Amino acid sequence: MNKPKVIVTRRWPAEVEAQLQALYDVQLNESDIPFTADQLKLALQTADAVLPTVTDALTADVLNVADKRAKIIGNFGVGYNNIDVAAAKAQGLVVTNTPHVLTDCTADIAMLLLLMSARRAPEGERLILDRQWTGWKPTQLIGQKVTGKTLGLIGFGRIAQAMARKAHHGFGMKILFFAPSQPAHAIVDELQATRCATVEELLPLADFVSLHCPGGAETRHLINEQRLKLMRPTAHLINTARGDVVDSKALIKALQAGWIKGAGLDVFEGEPNIDPDFLSLDNVALLPHLGSATEETRVAMGNRVLANIAAFFAGLEPEDRVA
Ligand code: DGY
Repeated sequence: MNKPKVIVTRRWPAEVEAQLQALYDVQLNESDIPFTADQLKLALQTADAVLPTVTDALTADVLNVADKRAKIIGNFGVGYNNIDVAAAKAQGLVVTNTPHVLTDCTADIAMLLLLMSARRAPEGERLILDRQWTGWKPTQLIGQKVTGKTLGLIGFGRIAQAMARKAHHGFGMKILFFAPSQPAHAIVDELQATRCATVEELLPLADFVSLHCPGGAETRHLINEQRLKLMRPTAHLINTARGDVVDSKALIKALQAGWIKGAGLDVFEGEPNIDPDFLSLDNVALLPHLGSATEETRVAMGNRVLANIAAFFAGLEPEDRVA
């Protein structure tokens, strides 16, 4: 029997690529240059499975291409706002993602950004790299204490809960959250967490606000000028979710005018393009979408995609089917 044809849109960890090569008739992307819309269309026309990631916009136009061979889209990533799921469904395509395996590493990056922003780590590092550090002094780069403070989480899924655990058990932080549905009582009890009825209720109560909602039209600019003004002037905003959850222009204004103290960002509107005004601010910690970027997690994400397509080709339901 012929092996299914599989197209991978970006480089993956070597051991997962080797596994794919052993199992399938696979086309890897050795140049690692993101596919154009036309290349994505061609992939859908020539492979049984297309394995994209966050940098591939699988729009309705791409998904509606005629004469498709693809039956399954195995997304490398837990977030799948790069895929027009309604269009995929309408086209009879199965879509899977990679939940669970990146929960802790993404929560770690959120905690890292929280600490970086609170303790002014980017400014400190710059001082040393610019050879400007003249020695310790009692008034240098004074930040905010993290231990014992209040963390407000917007969205309370797996990653938010993992961050809450680290923050509560590791840093003695008080946990507030806003979530559209009531999470399991055991988790709320374990974290002694308090649910806020609205985002507006949460914002003025938190020293740190961390975003953990999915991207997409429903959450676009959820954090806007009005809501930034509800935050405490000593508070920090952390975003490891999706860039467009925050109105960048409004955030820049807030950081410049001192409506809030600082921000830590791993994701950006229109990334990899970053609003240049972020680059001239001292009070923002910037990372290039590193949430899941550990050896262990990236291999596990690849393996998760492998398991999903293996199930599909065996006629079974893929575990991580989202459409
Ligand atoms: C995810 O898994 O959603 C990461 O942001 C990479 O896409």
